[in-house]
Amino acid sequence: MNDVLRAIAERSSTRGYTKEKLTDEEMKTLIDAALQSPTATNRQEIFVTAVDGGTPILGEIEAEMLRQAGKGAGAHNFYYEAPAVFILSGEAGFRWTAVDAGIAAQSVALAAESMGLGSLIIGCIKGAMQGEREADFAKALRFPEGYAFQIAVAVGHKATEKTPHAVSFDDHVAFVK
Ligand SMILES: Cc1cc2nc3c(=O)[nH]c(=O)nc-3n(C[C@H](O)[C@H](O)[C@H](O)COP(=O)(O)O)c2cc1C
Repeated sequence: MNDVLRAIAERSSTRGYTKEKLTDEEMKTLIDAALQSPTATNRQEIFVTAVDGGTPILGEIEAEMLRQAGKGAGAHNFYYEAPAVFILSGEAGFRWTAVDAGIAAQSVALAAESMGLGSLIIGCIKGAMQGEREADFAKALRFPEGYAFQIAVAVGHKATEKTPHAVSFDDHVAFVK
């Protein structure tokens, strides 16, 4: 199995991180992975906001998510105390933005796996990011004009291990000849 196939096979969502920060070089490598991803018509409309874990803006997003859900704080925040959260925004009016952001998110996740790091793709904050506080969050996270939240990826050193999910060809694949 080559390194790319190994990273695909061995990646699994990490929901627990050590306190160790990522190095500047690791941060740059992960951002490169997002930006090197393909985009429809080579639009390159994905913007990456690299947020240090624990910064107040992440707490504000968490609070807004809980407020919308009418819930109190849970055992974990949405990024599981990861030392870095990459928030991907994209041009709101471009029809492939969500797909392009998903591809970039997977690139970050696979790059992280190949670097011995854990990652978690995060969509649960979408309602909070696109709700009443959308403009505040977009400003704080420096989204370009006309950009909207698409997806986030938390990355850090794994404090938990999880077996990759099982796959079955039976219900998910058709071969047509
Ligand atoms: C688009 C997308 C959004 C996701 N959002 C969340 C999320 O908000 N919180 C979370 O804990 N996991 C989230 N996940 C992770 C999935 O729950 C996870 O990928 C799935 O359970 C399979 O597990 P695995 O990643 O370990 O293979 C998301 C995954 C994707 C692809």
